[in-house]
Amino acid sequence: MSAPAHRVLLIVGGGIAAYKSLDLARRLRARGVEVRAILTKNGAEFVTPLSLSTLTGNPVGRDLFSLTEESEIGHIRLAREADCIVVAPATADFLARMAQGRADDLATACILAASRAPLVAPAMNPMMWLNEATRANVALLKSRGVGVIEPDAGDMACGEEGVGRLADLDEIESRVMAELRRSRRLSGFDALVTSGPTRERLDSVRYVSNGSSGLQGYEIAHALAGASARTRLVSGPVSLSPPAGVETTSVTTAQEMLDACLTPPVPRVAVCAAAVSDWRPRDFVAGKMEKSAGLSLEMEQTPDILARLSEGRAGRPELVVGFAVEDGIGAAGVRRAREKLTAKGCDWILLNDISAAGSDENEVVLVSGDGEEVWGRGSKRDVAARLVDRVGGYFGV
Ligand SMILES: Cc1cc2nc3c(=O)[nH]c(=O)nc-3n(C[C@H](O)[C@H](O)[C@H](O)COP(=O)(O)O)c2cc1C
Repeated sequence: MSAPAHRVLLIVGGGIAAYKSLDLARRLRARGVEVRAILTKNGAEFVTPLSLSTLTGNPVGRDLFSLTEESEIGHIRLAREADCIVVAPATADFLARMAQGRADDLATACILAASRAPLVAPAMNPMMWLNEATRANVALLKSRGVGVIEPDAGDMACGEEGVGRLADLDEIESRVMAELRRSRRLSGFDALVTSGPTRERLDSVRYVSNGSSGLQGYEIAHALAGASARTRLVSGPVSLSPPAGVETTSVTTAQEMLDACLTPPVPRVAVCAAAVSDWRPRDFVAGKMEKSAGLSLEMEQTPDILARLSEGRAGRPELVVGFAVEDGIGAAGVRRAREKLTAKGCDWILLNDISAAGSDENEVVLVSGDGEEVWGRGSKRDVAARLVDRVGGYFGV
């Protein structure tokens, strides 16, 4: 049986370039893509719903409060069933509403309800594009993972010249097709991600732990699910919402994390991003230890999750990725990461600097049997996307 057609949700905003979206819809359909479209209220001043529905072969969504539209395909389903959402043209106003997280029409509500970040192809007067408000909105959207297909320079319909023309349709089409390929790249794969700290209890109120935010692991789980891997996330206590489309198991201790990781099925790829506590108190004291009694702790090692997942060859994930946090990612850090790679028996180590702990950014060196790859500094989301890309490459998909 052949795979179902890729599905694009095309949102058409109220700009002069809206007529080009008709050709975009036609091109995508010619490539076998199913196109559903939403026309904003102002978009309908520029192109007709009839043209758009004829070219997409589907009814056009227009109204958040339409009983017929909502009962035929609700806005949440419209958003979730799309392998790629593209806004073309995206007006300055639409970008501003996206940046604010508005959901007061069908198009913005779909974007907010989607589990994937959309692509936007802005088109507007050059002064509007250069306006500080637009610059700030675009920067904010980029930081949230929105893919911006930069406008071109040239003559504008308004008679002015500068940057603001809708990007060439060849460019938009190829960005959409690349996004579609990425969206199903790990389809059929089982993936496991660990994230966050663990807590090892001393008594009923105290524990040994660390300050891991869990953000990097959550971004990786989100990116794996975004590539259609069936993704399980085993998370220590963090204050993050579980990523959409990811089966999340919450645990507290290293032992619980290990047990959850060993629950079948064995994944094809396991990414151990959790900051597992290396030590735990040997004895647990029920109730509250009295301050006056003083504190003398005997500690023992917790189970080594990365080493356990890497054991043997049969019945083990085909690719096991660990993280190493070092005080610096220079030659000494790389050497220690390589020692860890050998000691644990995993396939890759992502070496990162200790400064990444409380930050949204990370700087990574991938250490493997093949050598080292310096990824440079980027957001934790960028690191996750890069890792998923490398995982796809490893499996040749
Ligand atoms: C003739 C005309 C052309 C317009 N062209 C654009 C444009 O190219 N880009 C843009 O950002 N806004 C343009 N606007 C302004 C938008 O239509 C307006 O900001 C509207 O609120 C956008 O609504 P929407 O983003 O919900 O579709 C134009 C307005 C008019 C009257």
